[in-house]
Amino acid sequence: MVKPLHIGNRQFASNLIQGPLAGVSSAPFRRLVWRYSQPAFTYTEMISCKTLLNMSIKSRQRFITRAPDEGTLCFQLSANDANELAEATKLVTDLGADLVDLNCGCPKKKIRTKHAGSKHLSDPSRLAQFIKAMKDNTTIPVSVKIRVDGDSDDNFNRDIGMVIQDAGADVLVVHGRNWRDDYDKPVFYDQIRYFTETLSIPVIGNGDVACHDSLQAMLATGCAGAMICRAGVGQPWLIGALSAHLTDVPFTKPVPSAIGALFVEHVAGLADLLASEKFALIQARKFAKYYGREIPERRNFCEAVNNCETLSDLAYQCRRFFV
Ligand SMILES: Cc1cc2nc3c(=O)[nH]c(=O)nc-3n(C[C@H](O)[C@H](O)[C@H](O)COP(=O)(O)O)c2cc1C
Repeated sequence: MVKPLHIGNRQFASNLIQGPLAGVSSAPFRRLVWRYSQPAFTYTEMISCKTLLNMSIKSRQRFITRAPDEGTLCFQLSANDANELAEATKLVTDLGADLVDLNCGCPKKKIRTKHAGSKHLSDPSRLAQFIKAMKDNTTIPVSVKIRVDGDSDDNFNRDIGMVIQDAGADVLVVHGRNWRDDYDKPVFYDQIRYFTETLSIPVIGNGDVACHDSLQAMLATGCAGAMICRAGVGQPWLIGALSAHLTDVPFTKPVPSAIGALFVEHVAGLADLLASEKFALIQARKFAKYYGREIPERRNFCEAVNNCETLSDLAYQCRRFFV
């Protein structure tokens, strides 16, 4: 069964979430997710508070634009200054965010050296101040997304989980990998379970959920909900299909030609959002392996997408390969 999810003052009919992916989770992607799926909510890409507060209104559009046909949205912020985080929290609340999240999981060196992302996990008292800065400046639920510490004993996880809960976070998202791990190591389900068994706030499990079995493995940690990230790219129907499976109703996935058309629609939406067909086509190169995951000539398709110079080229290649 798809279970309802309670977070702070909000209640959601589903406990499946499409999570944040920098470079992917902007409005053109999210609206496709909503067309086929009814997640509890989706996330924006990670947005740096500094950038958000200082960039021109035009440049902000990539991050703040919300399509009319998308649903509940959590804005994810990256911060290394509690005052900026407070201001950015107010701003995204005024912009209509339904939830706001602090990124405490990003493993990238350029983010960690700025004392943001997963670096927050090494300074729990500073992290608590950051969460309080968010809570003091909004009435919407506050989410925190972390990675586990796969190298330590349980003390690290216990301390950080308690600090986040005591500081007032309404929900904790746990990606079951250490910040030192890339994506090839298996997810530490036992460490996600540690949070679900210790905390009273809802814990959302994340990592490698891509099908019914991996979803069941994640739900078996006792998490209140599951977050899907990479597997949703190129198959915006995934949460819809997983929900249908859980509720035992039939689900028909789009035929290949429709998947090709979705890819084109995604990239055309990006071209509008970024006001640049060229830049959208560069982004499309990253998405090709996802949309093309089931086509037999995936390599050739990705190469063909790399050579597309216009949206018409892309549409032509999609018609050729998605048959
Ligand atoms: C290309 C890429 C971009 C990502 N961007 C973000 C991000 O902006 N914010 C974030 O919290 N996590 C980000 N992540 C991590 C994912 O949200 C997620 O935790 C991770 O991919 C594991 O989930 P999955 O196996 O369902 O993909 C990113 C991961 C990838 C591969």
